[in-house]
Amino acid sequence: MDEPTPGGIDVTVPNVARMYDFYLGGKDNYAADREAAARVLEVAPQAPALARENRAFLGRAVRFLAAEAGVRQFLDLGAGLPTRGNVHEAAREAAAETRCVYVDNDPVVLTHGRALLAGADNVDVIPGDLRRPEEILAGPRLHRTLDFDRPVAVLFSSVLHCLTDEDDPWRTVRVLGEALPSGSHLVLSHITAAEQEDAAQAGAAVYRRASSEMTLRRAPDIARFFDGFELLEPGLVPLPDWRPSAALRPPRERLPTWFLCGVARKP
Ligand SMILES: C[S@@+](CC[C@H](N)C(=O)[O-])C[C@H]1O[C@@H](n2cnc3c(N)ncnc32)[C@H](O)[C@@H]1O
Repeated sequence: MDEPTPGGIDVTVPNVARMYDFYLGGKDNYAADREAAARVLEVAPQAPALARENRAFLGRAVRFLAAEAGVRQFLDLGAGLPTRGNVHEAAREAAAETRCVYVDNDPVVLTHGRALLAGADNVDVIPGDLRRPEEILAGPRLHRTLDFDRPVAVLFSSVLHCLTDEDDPWRTVRVLGEALPSGSHLVLSHITAAEQEDAAQAGAAVYRRASSEMTLRRAPDIARFFDGFELLEPGLVPLPDWRPSAALRPPRERLPTWFLCGVARKP
C-alpha cells in the first residue's frame, strides 16, 4: 500500500535521518529507507544497538552538562527526527529554564520537529547546513533563543561523519567553536572503523546511495575536532564508556568499537 508522503520530498532516495529513525524503532521512515537499512543490517547487525547506545551517550552528556556543569543553553546540530528523550527534555530534568535550538538540513526532520515542539517555550527548530556554519551563526532565529554571550553546549551527535573530508567538518567545528564564549562545551560522537574495517566499508557503501555519505574516521582525526577545547574525563572513548550510570553499566558482552565520543570545555 502506498504511504502518504510529505509534498516535495523524494522518498525514493534512502535518507540518513529516516534510516536512523528505523534503527531506533521509529515510524517516520519510508520503504526506500527501510530497504537501505536492511542492507546495512546484513553487514552490521549491531546498527540498532549502536543507535540506542548513541542516544544513551547523548542523554548522559546532556544531563551531566545541565546538572553538573550548569549549562542552560543547547545547540543540537544534525538533530535528527524527534525521539524519546530529546535534548531539551533531558536537560530540563535538571534545569527547567534550559533553552534549546535544533538544527538540521532535512525537510522531514524540520517538519516533524516543528510539529512536536509547537508551543514549547524557548525551544526552536531551524534549517541549517553544517557545510555552511557561517550561515547557521548569522541566522536571526538562532539568536532569538540562544544568547552567545553566555555558555552554550554545541552537540554534534552522530552527524560529522555525514560530511566528507572535502566538506571539511573540522572547519565547521572550529567556526562554531570560535563563536562561543569561555565555559561553553562541545559534545561529539562519530563513527569509526578500526575494529571492523570490512563491515564498516560495506555499510558506508550503502550510504553512498543515500541522502548523505558516511565517512569513517580514525581516532586521531576525530580527536582533532576538539582542538582549542579541553577534553573532559574520560576523554575520547567508546560510547558505553562515557560516564556510564550505575544503573546502566556497559554490558559484559561488548560490541566492537564502532563509535568514539567525548565532551570538552572551552577554556
Ligand atoms: C544519524 S542522524 C543523528 C541524529 C541525532 N543527532 C542523534 O545523535 O540521535 C544524522 C542527522 O544529521 C543530519 N544531517 C546530515 N548532514 C547534515 C548537514 N550537512 N547539515 C545539517 N544536518 C545534517 C541528518 O538529516 C540527520 O538528521
